[in-house]
Parts: sequence; C-alpha cells; structure tokens
Amino acid sequence: MAILITGGAGYIGSHTCLELLNIGYEVVVVDNLSNSNKESLDRVDKITGKHIQFYNIDLLDRENLEAVFMENKIDAVIHFAGFKAVGESVELPLSYYQNNITGTIILCQVMQKYNVKKMVFSSSATVYSPTTSGAISEDSPLGATNPYGRTKLMIEEILRDLYVSDNSWSISLLRYFNPVGSHISGRIGEDPNGIPNNLTPYITQVAVGKLNQLRIFGDDYPTSDGTGVRDYIHVVDLAKGHLKAIDKVMIVTGVEAYNLGTGKGYSVLEMVHAFEQTSGKSIPYIIVDRRPGDVAVCYADSSKAKRELGWVAERGIEEMCADAWRWQLNNPNGYHDVEDKVIIGQGS
Ligand code: NAD
Ligand code: WQD
Repeated sequence: MAILITGGAGYIGSHTCLELLNIGYEVVVVDNLSNSNKESLDRVDKITGKHIQFYNIDLLDRENLEAVFMENKIDAVIHFAGFKAVGESVELPLSYYQNNITGTIILCQVMQKYNVKKMVFSSSATVYSPTTSGAISEDSPLGATNPYGRTKLMIEEILRDLYVSDNSWSISLLRYFNPVGSHISGRIGEDPNGIPNNLTPYITQVAVGKLNQLRIFGDDYPTSDGTGVRDYIHVVDLAKGHLKAIDKVMIVTGVEAYNLGTGKGYSVLEMVHAFEQTSGKSIPYIIVDRRPGDVAVCYADSSKAKRELGWVAERGIEEMCADAWRWQLNNPNGYHDVEDKVIIGQGS
C-alpha cells in the first residue's frame, strides 16, 4: 500500500515516513524543500533500509503533482506540507494563505481526479480559541488568532465541505499540541532555519553553545511557577498517531478531528530543568516580557484519539529531552552537518 506524504522531508513528516516504512508501507514524498533538507529522507532510507520515492515538487505546481499520481498508485495522503511560523504569518499573510490553502485545494483537486479520497491532515492546537481553560477537547471553542492558525481552521472547513459534497471522502484532522524530541537514533530531528521560535530547539541550541541564553517569555502567568504551560508530545508518538489515523481512514468515511497530545502540561521552567537533568548541561536563562499572543496554559484532552483511534502517547518528558539532545549533539548544524553519526545500538 502506498501513502503519499506531502511535506515528508520536514520535521514531523520525516519521522512519520520512518514509522510507515517500518511497518511495511510504500512511501512517496512530495516536498519543495522550502523548509527542509533532502538529507532527512536519505537518513530515513538508511535507518530503515528501505527507499522513499521522492519528488521535489511544489504543491502549487498542479501539472507535476498530477504526474506523481499517474506514476504511483496512491492509496491515501498524509498532508503535512505548509508554512508554520506564527510570527512570519503575521508579516506575510498572503504567502501563508496562498501556500497553505491554495496548496491544499490543488492537492484535493488532484486527489479527486485520481479517485484518492483518504486524507490525514496536519492541523494544530492553534485552531482552539485562546479563551478555553482546562483540558481542550475537540468540542472546545475554535478561533485562531493569527494568519497561520486561520489557514489551519479554514482548511479544516474546506475539508468538511468537501466531504459534504462527496460522502466517499475519508479525512482525519489531527490537531497536534507541541511536538518535540526526535527519533532515538539521533539521526533525524527538528532543524529550524535561523533562530528557533519554539522552546525546545531554543533550549537545545543554548545547551550546545550556539545561543547564549534562553529568554523565558513571562513568569507572571497564573501557573505553578508563573511560566507558560504546554502539552509537549514526543514526535515519534505523534508519527505513530498518523499510522492509527491511516488505519481509520482506510475503513470509514467521514471527517473527524482528533487531538494528539499527552494530556499533561509542563511549564517552561519544568522543561528547562528536565532538559538540564537529562543532558547534564546548564541552561542559562533570563525572564523577559510575555510574548504577544501566548496563552498561560494549553493542554489536550486526547481521550477521543484513544477511544476512536486506539492511540495514546507513550513517551514522557525525559525521553523527549534526551532524544532532542541526542539529535542536537550529533548534528549541531542540523542537516548541514555532512556527517551522519550512527550511535551503535540506536540505529532504528
Ligand atoms: P516543517 O516545516 O518541518 O515541514 C513542512 C514541510 O512542508 C517542509 O519540508 C516544507 O519544505 C514543505 N512544504 C511547505 N510548503 C510546501 C509546498 N507548497 N509544496 C511542497 N512542500 C512544501 O514543519 P513540521 O513541524 O514538520 O510541521 C508539519 C505540519 O504540521 C505543518 O502543516 C505544520 O503546520 C503542522 N504543525 C506543526 C506543529 C509544530 O509545532 N511543528 C504543530 C502543529 C501543527
Ligand atoms: C512554548 C512555551 C512560550 C520560546 C507554537 C505555535 C503553535 C504550534 C506549536 C504549529 C510558551 C515559551 C518559547 C522561547 C519561551 N505550531 N517560550 N522562550 O507557542 O505553544 O506553540 O508552536 O501549529 O501554533 O504557536 O510553542 O514552543 O513557541 O512555546 O519562554 O524562546 O515556551 O512562551 O509558553 P507555542 P513554543
């Protein structure tokens, strides 16, 4: 069975390719490498001993996208491709709407033409209204606060409308909380361009000496230590969630949203301390003003994914930190490091 992965060279996509190959799927990747490096897929090939069929194609390039469907018998699509930086989306809203929304529409049109109607879509916890308190369930109020989040919300609506127009579609909307960590091999991981926006890559880059200190955005939130609380989820658990969602879209039609989180929140300081413990490195930090748009607390009620997909996150905070650190230590410059370091006993 062949799965087309859009954005498969990226952080979550590459980890998902690896898990799919490990359980015997054929994997076809379409990625324009706008925020990734082909080296990620080469390493997945080496780790798994299998081969990914890769196409360096932009989703907006309908003609070449169609060729992928003509050349391969695609059974389902996992759609990761998109821009994802919140701050950048405020600066460049049209690019975000064009890339994320138009890209998705073209993909769906091509899927429709080739009669492939099973899709797993990368949504985000960012679709929930920031006013929500307590564990966020799929029924919690929606309401994105920035163009990036609105692209996710709009795509969810487009996919729901698509199903209404044709009940033979089968679509899972996976709302990720905060993905962190990397594959245990330390050979693939998160490789942000420039200064990281997200907490964990920032911490690991301080630990490895690329950045001087962490800036903690606010210590006056109504949380146990005043810093923001998030539901961090190991990227391998997240990748495995996609396998469960693929199983589901293969057998039922409809559109369903699922939260993928652990259900447990950690504060920024708890993350810093957990990372210091697993890495043995100290993380110097300063407290600065709150970051505009941040909420105090955000964590998932993932009981629907457990109930309907049979999925639960298995990896805890120590594993998240240890794996993120192994990747950073082995690849201080991400995929720009030429050497693919293999740690004996942790190859796959
Ligand atoms: P990523 O940037 O590492 O991966 C996205 C991939 O899509 C990249 O390889 C990029 O080159 C590719 N891409 C972008 N536009 C494309 C286009 N027009 N045509 C072809 N390829 C294109 O991001 P990620 O962290 O792996 O996230 C994957 C998906 O999950 C994204 O849709 C993102 O919005 C969503 N998501 C991510 C997070 C997170 O914190 N990482 C949280 C929630 C949701
Ligand atoms: C986590 C916590 C920060 C960096 C973002 C997107 C969201 C989703 C995931 C895609 C917060 C604090 C961070 C730093 C800090 N992406 N922090 N210093 O904001 O929960 O979610 O990524 O869908 O849409 O908004 O994640 O990792 O940026 O922040 O103190 O240098 O760490 O204030 O409390 P966030 P994050």
